[in-house]
Amino acid sequence: MKRSSGSSLKIPVMSTISNKPQTLLALNWKMNKTPTEAAAWAKRLQEEMPETGTALAVMVGAITLSQVASEMYGSTAFLGAQDISPHESGAYTGETSAVQLKDVGVKYVIVGHSERREYHGESDATVAAKAKKALEHGIVPIVCVGEKLEIREAGSHVAFTLESLKNSLAGVEIASAADLVIAYEPVWAIGTGKTATAADAEEMASAIRGSLEQLYPAFASQIVIQYGGSVKPDNIQEICGQPNVNGALVGGAALVLESVFGMLEALK
Ligand code: 13P
Repeated sequence: MKRSSGSSLKIPVMSTISNKPQTLLALNWKMNKTPTEAAAWAKRLQEEMPETGTALAVMVGAITLSQVASEMYGSTAFLGAQDISPHESGAYTGETSAVQLKDVGVKYVIVGHSERREYHGESDATVAAKAKKALEHGIVPIVCVGEKLEIREAGSHVAFTLESLKNSLAGVEIASAADLVIAYEPVWAIGTGKTATAADAEEMASAIRGSLEQLYPAFASQIVIQYGGSVKPDNIQEICGQPNVNGALVGGAALVLESVFGMLEALK
């Protein structure tokens, strides 16, 4: 975590024995925690963070970014945001720009979360514009895709998700595998306690990997693909153990530090 764009990051050691990319656990707090609560959480994380081979990113609400950044200064965890404006700067009331995020030390940003698609009408084209803006400023987009229950029940979940992925990455160019993260989050598994099976997660992750091979042939094998939807300490190991799943994007279980440490332990 860096305090400002000038200082350097302590980066977790990359695995050299496996050809899977390093596992990335991203904690999506959604609209939870006041700046005071967030600062206390981040201070404890900084003090109690166990040794881990997993990369950890904490995706916090915009109003808490500065406090979390300063409490986590010197930590191996990365700072993340939950949304970004597709615009550079100016008259866009209520939005947060890439420059502003970068200035507080943001490394990752979620784009196209299903809650933004559902409640804020975000289209794949908007998601692509946000991903491009993040990359222009050296912020790694975590591009979210995933189907609703009726699409899964109709059996068209893979086709639907790959089409959404292709459109959400339209015109998005990367210079290395580390520039992009994809999160597969089936909407029916988010906050419902219904987790996709490890086989469901792998089916989609492997299909996503296939699409990435067409879009980014030089980098596809090393792009992190996460699963999200009711992930917790009890199920993270099996899900992230799948060949094409390289981490998780976690909501509910991300709010309590003990369960975060439980997930890190399970991933060892
Ligand atoms: P839950 O882990 O609460 O199901 O949320 C998943 C999610 O939406 C993460 O972005």
